Amino acid sequence: MYAIPFLDLPPLRSAGGTVTLPGSKSISNRVLLLAALSAGETTVHDLLDSDDTRVMLTGLAQLGCGIEHLGAHTVQVRGLGGALPVRSAALFLGNAGTAMRPLTAALALLATQLGGQFELSGIARMHERPIGDLVDALRQLGCPVDYLGQDGYPPLRVGHGQPAALALDTPIRVRGDVSSQFLTALLLALPLVATRDITLEVVGELISKPYIDITLKLLAQFGVQVQRDGWQRFTIPQGSRYTSPGSIHIEGDASSASYFIALGALAPASAGTDGITIQGVGLDSIQGDIRFVEAAQAMGADISGSANALHIRRGAWPLQAIDLDCNHIPDAAMTLAVMALYAQGTTTLRNIASWRVKETDRIAAMACELRKLGATVEEGHDFIRVTPPTTDGWRAASIHTYDDHRVAMCFSLAAFNPARVPLRIEDPKCVAKTFPDYFEALFGVVQANAADIPVLCIDGPTASGKGTLAHRVAEQLGYAVLDSGALYRLVGLAAERAGITTDAASLQDPAVATRLGELAAGLPVRFAAGRIWLADEDVTTAVRSEAAGMAASRVSVLPEVRQALLQLQHSFRRLPGLVADGRDMGTVIFPDAPLKIFLTASAEKRAQRRYEQLISQGGTATLIDLLADLQARDARDTSRQHAPLQAAQDALQLDNSDLGIEASVQQVLAHWQAQRPFAGA
Ligand code: DC
Repeated sequence: MYAIPFLDLPPLRSAGGTVTLPGSKSISNRVLLLAALSAGETTVHDLLDSDDTRVMLTGLAQLGCGIEHLGAHTVQVRGLGGALPVRSAALFLGNAGTAMRPLTAALALLATQLGGQFELSGIARMHERPIGDLVDALRQLGCPVDYLGQDGYPPLRVGHGQPAALALDTPIRVRGDVSSQFLTALLLALPLVATRDITLEVVGELISKPYIDITLKLLAQFGVQVQRDGWQRFTIPQGSRYTSPGSIHIEGDASSASYFIALGALAPASAGTDGITIQGVGLDSIQGDIRFVEAAQAMGADISGSANALHIRRGAWPLQAIDLDCNHIPDAAMTLAVMALYAQGTTTLRNIASWRVKETDRIAAMACELRKLGATVEEGHDFIRVTPPTTDGWRAASIHTYDDHRVAMCFSLAAFNPARVPLRIEDPKCVAKTFPDYFEALFGVVQANAADIPVLCIDGPTASGKGTLAHRVAEQLGYAVLDSGALYRLVGLAAERAGITTDAASLQDPAVATRLGELAAGLPVRFAAGRIWLADEDVTTAVRSEAAGMAASRVSVLPEVRQALLQLQHSFRRLPGLVADGRDMGTVIFPDAPLKIFLTASAEKRAQRRYEQLISQGGTATLIDLLADLQARDARDTSRQHAPLQAAQDALQLDNSDLGIEASVQQVLAHWQAQRPFAGA
C-alpha cells in the first residue's frame, strides 16, 4: 500500500493480464454482522481486509463476539446468538457506512430488548453523513436513540441501559430515497426481535435497489426469508432466526471490478496478452454493480464472463458517449464518468443524487477533478455531464481524492490520456477503504514506455549518505530503489563463490575479464521484501561486508562487467518510478533521468560519519586513518579510467556537510516537485 502524500502516474500505454479482486465490502460487512448475530461459529472466506471491515471486526469483538483470524482473508466469528454479553461500549467506526448503519440498528434493538447502552462514532466525515431516517425508524420501534452531536448525524447513543418494550405491531416506515443502507440496516437487525411478523414500509422511491437485493440474498443464506412486496413493503416473518451456514465465501468486489473493466475497455492490449481477466466475480454475481458491465458494453467494451471471472478487451474505439440512469450502479458509475474522458461526445449520468452523501460529495468532487484534466463538466443536483477534452486540451493534473477510495481508483485511469501527460493522485492510501493494494494490482497489469517512467539519480562520493538518501526519497515517492553498488558487490561475491580470483593481477587476464562479464550477465539475483538473494542464498548481509565492497571496487572497473549489468539495471525502471543510487546512474545508465543529484560533503564530515557508524557497530577505528582512506578512495574513484566518480553535467550538487538526512530528503523532494508539471497543485 502506498502510504505517501501523492503518487505520480506516468502516461500509460497498454494493459493486459489477470487481476484478482479483493472481497466485496458490502458483502463482507453484512456477512460479518449476520455471523455475529447468529449462534455458533461461522468461517468467512475471502473476506475483504480493509479499513471498513477492520472497524467492523473491532466493533464486533468489543461486543463480545469471538473473532479469530485464520489467515489473511479468513476469519472465524463466534456469534452472539441473541445474547448481549457486553452491555455498554463505545464503538469507533471510522468512515464505514456499512458498519455504522447496521450496528446502530442491531444495537438499538438489542439494547432496548435486553437493557444496554452503546455509543457509535466515526471520523469527522462520518459525522456529516445523515442517519436521521434510520433513527426515526428506530424511535418508531420504541428504541431510545440520542444524538451526541448534531441532530440527524452520528455520533449516537442507543439504549438507556434498561430494557424497554418494542412497538412491533404497526408497520415501520423508513425513507428509502436518501440511502438504501437504512433499510438494509433494519432488515439485517429486525430478525433479532421477530416475535411476530414485522413489516417495513418504504417511504419515497427506494434508491440503490440492488444493495437491498444483496441484503435479502445474504439474509436467506443465514436462514431468514424476508417477504418482499415490490420495493415498498418487506415483512420479516414471525419466528425468523439467524442460522449460520457454517462457512461462507465472499465474492470479489464488483465495484472494484469496474476499474479493471474500464481499463480493458480503454487500454490497448499489451503485447502477448488478450486484454484483462478479472478473477473473483462473474456475470452471475449477486452484487448490483455487476451491471456496470452493461454500461461499459454500451460505451464499447468487449466483455465476456464465466462463473467467477470476467474477460475484457477493447471493443469500439474511441468509446461511445452514453446517457444513462445510474441509480442501479451508484458506486461503479463514477468509473463511467472517467471513461467518458475517452468517449466521442458528451456522456450524461443521471439519477445519482446519492453521490452527494457518500464518502464525500461525489458529484462536486468528480466535477472538480474532471475539470482539472481539461474536461467540460456540468453538474446538477442529481446528474453529471462530461465532455472530454480535445487531445491538446488535456492537462497534467494533481487529483485531490477527498479521502474517497473511489475517486482515487477511478481517476488512475486518466493516465491513459492521449496527450500523454502524467497524473498525480493525492493521498493514494485512501484506497485502503476497499482495495488496499489497488495501485499494486494496477501496476501489475499496465505498461508504460520505459522512457516515460521517471528516474531520480543520486550519486556522490563514498560515505556521502547517498544510499540512505535514496531509500528515504524512494519511500516518499512510492518508488523502487536501485542500489547499483549492491550489483557490483554481488558480482564480487559471485566471483568468490565461483572460485574466480579478482586481485589486480588476475583482472589483467582477458579470459578472467570475459568470465566475470559472463557471470555478471547471468547473475541469479532476486530482490524480495528487503532481502537480496543470489540463487538460493540470502546474501543481504554478505554483500554489505568489507570484502564484498573491495571486490566490487575491483571488478567494477572492467568494461565487460559494466556492460553486462546494463540490462539488469535498466530492468529496474518499473512503474511507478525509480530512485537509482550509484556511480554512473545519471551519466550512463539513465542519462535521460529528469533529476540527478550529486551529493557531496567535506571529506572530514564523511570520515566523521563513517567513524560514528563503525563505533556504533562496535568496531574500532581512528578518525585519522578513516580520513586518509577516504581521501585515497576519492582520488582513486575520480581518476579511474572506467566510470570515474563524476557528477553528470546536468546534476544538481547538494552539499550535505551541514544538513541532517531529513533536511536533505526535503531538499531533493523540493527539486523533484519543482520540475514536475503539477507545480502549484
Ligand atoms: O556504493 P557501494 O559502496 O555499494 O559500491 C561498491 C563499489 O562498486 C564501489 O567501489 C563503487 C562501485 N560502483 C560502480 O562502479 N558503479 C556503480 N553504479 C555503483 C558502484
